[in-house]
Amino acid sequence: MVGGTRLAGDVSVSGAKNSVLKLMAAALLAEGTTTLRNVPRILDVDIMSELLRRLGCTVTGAAPELSIAVPARPGHEADYDLVRRMRASICVLGPLLARCGEVKVAQPGGDNIGSRGLDMHVGGLTKMGAAVEVEHGFLIARAPRLAGATVWLDFPSVGATENLLMAAALAKGTTVIDNAAREPEIIDLAAMLRAMGAQISGAGSSTVEVEGVEGLSPTEHITVPDRIVAGTYGIAAAVTGGDVRVRGAIAAHLDIALDKLVTSGAHVEVFPDGFRVVMNRRPRSVDVVTLPYPGFPTDLQPAIVVLDAVSDGTAMVTENVFEARFMFLDELSRLGAEIRADGHHAIVRGRERLSGAPVRATDIRAGAGLVLAGLVAEGETTVSNVGHVDRGYQYFAESLNRLGAKVTREPDPDV
Ligand code: UD1
Repeated sequence: MVGGTRLAGDVSVSGAKNSVLKLMAAALLAEGTTTLRNVPRILDVDIMSELLRRLGCTVTGAAPELSIAVPARPGHEADYDLVRRMRASICVLGPLLARCGEVKVAQPGGDNIGSRGLDMHVGGLTKMGAAVEVEHGFLIARAPRLAGATVWLDFPSVGATENLLMAAALAKGTTVIDNAAREPEIIDLAAMLRAMGAQISGAGSSTVEVEGVEGLSPTEHITVPDRIVAGTYGIAAAVTGGDVRVRGAIAAHLDIALDKLVTSGAHVEVFPDGFRVVMNRRPRSVDVVTLPYPGFPTDLQPAIVVLDAVSDGTAMVTENVFEARFMFLDELSRLGAEIRADGHHAIVRGRERLSGAPVRATDIRAGAGLVLAGLVAEGETTVSNVGHVDRGYQYFAESLNRLGAKVTREPDPDV
């Protein structure tokens, strides 16, 4: 891409990657056909569809509408070749255990963003009566029928909260998840489970209570909008001194991120179906601390670091969720960004301009951040390993070009 253009115009976001993958897994909890709407056209949805097919489901349709027909007895094994490509595959653990009484899921690899343990997933399921062992790279869990329990999470893990929520829906008795994650994607999953017949209260707060039921029914559900994609476009507008209206988003899910843009000097206007970001000056630097929701999302950390890298001033960015998310700072430095990182803190000294260079994406969000950097770098920037971005952003290059960017997409030999 060639940097230096200002983004202007409208862009629409679709359903959230981080929600739809769990909604697809939740379909496993009921025999019959579940239909999902507002499904994004991204690689991770294709990988999850393939995983469900191998479990005996029939997946039909294409984004934005997908139907999943689940058999009376789904399979219970998720192979390494799929789990390796997408760590979120681990979200079949809870529903398959609840549904089949047994599950065998390969231990994941996935994004290069630090060690992402499964201890809270395993600890919670164990408390609910599952026997869990690790053998030959597989996590194997067995429980003829899970029993409700009170589970205290050490950290409000999104994935653990989701797995436990799905497992608890069919467990015998009451489960309480304390220090639960409060992300909008958790609320979305709970809403779908309730429509399937689950009894859940408190989703979106730190304490979620689930009264297990004997069986669930298939349903139809509309995926919550992708707040991370929406936030990426909002930050892209601010970084390029642009004027972008983001449609199909829920601004309230981005309160802190939008407030940071206001602090950096942008005008932000909120609408019922999204928001508009207008930046008429060089951004002022903003300090950011990533935290579980409603804190600043770690998934937008690379994008906001790019804003700080071209801002007027010096900012401190603290990463509290994924330790290795700073790996991308080395790549950003190749574009001339002035950054010093120590542990989970980074000092970003703003420069007037970045300068284009070849860089490499290390994960989805780093990839999106490097593309934003390329939009404000002088000359040409090439982001390799960009297949990562396809995992979470539908039509990213096309959408940016429609807003005035000069991005060309070449086949990526790496992914
Ligand atoms: C999800 C999102 C990801 C987002 C993250 C935090 C999906 C597919 N991905 O990831 O985009 O960045 O939430 O908002 O929805 N941890 C443990 N033990 C566990 C579970 C987690 O130590 O059993 C640690 C992880 O290493 C990490 C932190 O907890 O440091 C947060 O992880 P978690 O909230 O579980 O993130 P994911 O669900 O993997």
